[in-house]
Amino acid sequence: MSKLVFPFAVTTDRVEQTEAFGARLARLVLDDASLPRYVALAGNLGVGKTAFVRGFASVIAPGVAVRSPTFALVNEYRAAGMPPVFHFDMYRITSEDDLYSIGYDDYLDRGICLVEWSENVPYAMPDEFLRVLIEKTDPSEPDTRRITVTSEHSSRLQGENDVYSFT
Ligand SMILES: Nc1ncnc2c1ncn2[C@@H]1O[C@H](COP(=O)(O)OP(=O)(O)O)[C@@H](O)[C@H]1O
Ligand SMILES: [Mg+2]
Repeated sequence: MSKLVFPFAVTTDRVEQTEAFGARLARLVLDDASLPRYVALAGNLGVGKTAFVRGFASVIAPGVAVRSPTFALVNEYRAAGMPPVFHFDMYRITSEDDLYSIGYDDYLDRGICLVEWSENVPYAMPDEFLRVLIEKTDPSEPDTRRITVTSEHSSRLQGENDVYSFT
């Protein structure tokens, strides 16, 4: 499995290719302990965030059903001998109280977190994470997506004195 150099960008033309790229990132994260185990997914509704998670989770827990946890807020995908995957959807999260009510902090070190709509909870980001931005690039190509992966550092994004930094 070749390493990715960040930022890394790929174009997909079908949902299966987005799933396959999710699977590729999962294998990289499993193989390389230096990579963050927190993936923030960004992009508009219907762009393919859950599809990416489906591919990622297929490496950890083959055959598991992956759905957007919009109402549950978090789904867990588990298989023997693998780190669990925690699939969050922050679409309805409006405050830190909401996060605490689902025990968010307790998930962070126990598995791999894949987080849809993390834009809603900038204060909840760990110090280091991968950001996967999925975008439609061309209205005349409805199935084409640009996926850009960057390696992020919260302290750099938010500034040293930010009251929200998680330490
Ligand atoms: N290249 C592509 N990558 C991902 N999804 C695609 C692609 N082309 C079409 N689609 C479709 O876009 C939709 C993405 O839905 P979903 O993954 O639930 O989005 P999100 O979680 O971002 O709201 C699916 O219906 C999927 O079939
Ligand atoms: Mg979704």
